[in-house]
Amino acid sequence: MSPFQLTRTLPEDATEADLRADVQGGLTRVPKELPPKWFYDARGSELFEEITRLPEYYPTRAEREILVDRASDIAAATGARTLVELGSGSSEKTRFLIDALLPDLASYVPVDVSRSALTGAAEALLAERPGLDIHALVADFTRGLELPDTPGPRLVAFLGGTIGNLLPDERAVFLRSVRTMLSPGDALLLGTDLVKDEATLVAAYDDAAGVTAAFNKNVLAVIARELDADVRPEDFDHVALWDRDREWIEMRLRARHALTVKIPELDLIVPFEKGEEVRTEVSAKFRQAGVRRELSDAGLELARWWTDRKERFALSLAIAR
Ligand code: AVJ
Repeated sequence: MSPFQLTRTLPEDATEADLRADVQGGLTRVPKELPPKWFYDARGSELFEEITRLPEYYPTRAEREILVDRASDIAAATGARTLVELGSGSSEKTRFLIDALLPDLASYVPVDVSRSALTGAAEALLAERPGLDIHALVADFTRGLELPDTPGPRLVAFLGGTIGNLLPDERAVFLRSVRTMLSPGDALLLGTDLVKDEATLVAAYDDAAGVTAAFNKNVLAVIARELDADVRPEDFDHVALWDRDREWIEMRLRARHALTVKIPELDLIVPFEKGEEVRTEVSAKFRQAGVRRELSDAGLELARWWTDRKERFALSLAIAR
């Protein structure tokens, strides 16, 4: 059997149809809203990689620190023979986990919507670990997954704090769907950014070099290109704010003056007042008690909780009941 297999569960035209539905729905609702998944075309993914290297954006470095320190604990606690990674992207931080799980690890199952990210990551991994069996899935993991039939125990990893992009109701649905991928005793490794002082949080989403502003505005470039919309990124300002009641960061795009966005393909003319905003991302921040409760409500028991030395970010290991 070949050590690399790729399975697509997303229809080729799913992306286009989803983008149209999200833009149509999101720009006609009050307040206006666009889902964060549309940031990540080739340019957006590049900008995100750049964000992870910014001095203000601590989550990536904090999570890497925990993974480096705890990979062998994670391997010992799970004994996983299959590692499933949701939203695997470049699989860059996963190497530490894979290397700690080898030689018992039989299969790595990276799941991402980007086929090119999956093939690139697999190539890099296989170059260094020729024996590893990789079964990549091009899939939208928010919609429930059919996993390949690989040996247990299973460890599902969802890193980076991306669960924070989901609203509380969506997190409950998502965690239940993760639970259905697991048998009792299998594990979930979950990365969550933690609640901290407002200045640190806001700076992480509004960096001095303006990379996050460019990342935020990139969603407009995606809409302009894919839907032939006449929207101009320079007509909008980047906004990042901390919602202290809901304990999440919101990114928004604010119209610098009154304008209209025309999208003939959707038969849509969207008026903006001066100062009107579109919410483009929620990035929730967590506390241990909340993570424990959300996991428990989904049939997952928090077994270990690790943070970086500055307690900015946490990795949770939860066991399926
Ligand atoms: C990739 C979703 C974890 O929410 O911090 C970075 C995306 N947005 N800067 C996050 C992001 C703005 C990031 N996640």
